Amino acid sequence: MSGAAAVRPGSGSAAVLCGLGTWLPPHAVTNDDLARELDTSDAWIRSRTGIGTRFIAAPSTATSDLAVEAGRRALKSAEADSVDAVVLATTTPDHPCPATAPLVAAQLGLGTVPAFDVGAVCTGFLYALATGAGLIATGTAGSVLVIGADTYSRILDPADRSTRAIFGDGAGAVVLRSGGADEPGALGPPVLGSDGTGSDLITVRSGGSREPLHTAGPIGTGDGGDAGDAARPDPYFRMAGRAVFRNAVERMAEASLMAARRAGWEVADIDRLVAHQANLRILHAVADRMRLPRHRCPVHLDQVGNTAAASIPLALSYAAATGRLTPGHRTLLTAFGGGLTWGACALRWPALTPM
Ligand code: COA
Repeated sequence: MSGAAAVRPGSGSAAVLCGLGTWLPPHAVTNDDLARELDTSDAWIRSRTGIGTRFIAAPSTATSDLAVEAGRRALKSAEADSVDAVVLATTTPDHPCPATAPLVAAQLGLGTVPAFDVGAVCTGFLYALATGAGLIATGTAGSVLVIGADTYSRILDPADRSTRAIFGDGAGAVVLRSGGADEPGALGPPVLGSDGTGSDLITVRSGGSREPLHTAGPIGTGDGGDAGDAARPDPYFRMAGRAVFRNAVERMAEASLMAARRAGWEVADIDRLVAHQANLRILHAVADRMRLPRHRCPVHLDQVGNTAAASIPLALSYAAATGRLTPGHRTLLTAFGGGLTWGACALRWPALTPM
């Protein structure tokens, strides 16, 4: 990493967030656009989710393309021209094999650094962040590019109004460097959890080893969140909306409180809770459950929808760029996703320019 000559693999220390970059594909899809295709309305989507617009990648754009753009911007924001590792969180890799991160690293000109994908659905960015911090803590890397990138538009059932209203495509990335635990940007101990007994609540059922697509018959049409006929393949993202809603609120609130405790903060000390942008009602319910004023939870989903693994860096960038998140803010990050998985992490927001 340029400008950080003192940082070397082997030093082993805290992970400090020092760069932030994001990228959205240019094509915006409004609620009214969706209502022309599906039995839905702007009023329904806004009142149930808070979402107004989402961005959809062109057919020629894959997750790596979004990840490369966000990664390039994060490196620029960190004034770095190299890193020692790349960790990419995604549920929508370019291909089932190989992982997408090595391609992203190569396209960013990062040479032969270790690069791998992390799969934790909408919690992916926090799992990747914790993995990057672990690489730094063990001295494996002095700096890590952590990317969350997803192209959910590729896995949504065109006929499913409940998922198409929610998800959008995008990417966000941060650079972590080795540093001191008291520095602005130093990550507190991450809180991570999973509960596989809820693995059927968020699924892409077909296309893996349990149900390879090549052994399956004709593709099912899907019907708006129903898991469908088990005999037919289903390559689409399905979600049991209400159960996901309930679990998301409980888990993000619990994990956030635990991360705050580990950082030595009371709830009143939390300046910003930057939560996975799933649904405005979920954000409000998490804040209410924690007894945190709602205005301390920045909202970005109205403009981009739920961008899965990209949502936290995108929300951080938007909040920082609009003055809602300023250097010194005691900040909690939290997310929930399929798996089920969840997590939270504390940091004091550093002085940086998102790109
Ligand atoms: N427009 C109009 N109606 C819709 C709709 C849409 N976009 N999406 C769903 N509906 C309908 C349903 O089909 C259902 O109709 P029915 O009663 O005729 O069967 C009705 O609205 C109620 O569905 P329900 O799922 O109970 O609604 P809800 O109030 O729970 O809202 C979600 C649905 C998906 C918005 C909500 O459950 C949610 O946001 N869940 C969390 C999703 C999430 O954030 N997932 C990612 C987590 S990482």
